[in-house]
Amino acid sequence: MEIILGDITKLKVDAIVNAANTSLLGGSGVDGAIHRAAGSELVDECRSLAGCKVGDAKLTKGYRLPARFIIHTVGPVWRGGSHGEQELLAQCYRKCMQIAADKEFDTLAFPCISTGIYRYPKDIAAKLAVKICSEQLQKNGRPQRVIFCCYDQENYEIYEKILPEYT
Ligand code: APR
Repeated sequence: MEIILGDITKLKVDAIVNAANTSLLGGSGVDGAIHRAAGSELVDECRSLAGCKVGDAKLTKGYRLPARFIIHTVGPVWRGGSHGEQELLAQCYRKCMQIAADKEFDTLAFPCISTGIYRYPKDIAAKLAVKICSEQLQKNGRPQRVIFCCYDQENYEIYEKILPEYT
């Protein structure tokens, strides 16, 4: 597992994860950036998927992105922490890792799911992300490389503190 500070739409990996909404038809944040960079064919494929539940994940092609595929997942909106947010966010990471294992992807990059517009606290989201991905990596042979792509210094420093406990 590794951390980078940068724009996930630039990563040449097997799949990048999109922090989407239940419509899968695009939005702002990383969702908007991915749809802009992938091009309009992406939303056409997304339309055929008939949405995505919170905690679930669905695969599409990457189109104009350097990444081959996109795994769209819908994180929980933070509502104080006693509405099952923790388990739903864990499900997002688990499902994305499972799709990557099933598709035998070698490299997978995550944004910091739910920590933007959905206001999930960055530190507890990061701890959960690293814990779940570490568990899944032990269980499955693939992906070989999991990249936590942070878009801001704050998230980057949070992951930097957490990762050494798991590697
Ligand atoms: N590359 C990597 N990370 C990015 C990028 C990018 N180009 N753009 C934004 N991010 C980061 C944000 O800084 C944040 O750390 O992605 C993380 C997730 O933030 P959001 O994109 O706001 O996603 P989220 O909090 O899960 O909210 C999802 O926002 O865009 C809408 O349609 C989306 O309704 C959904 C909601």
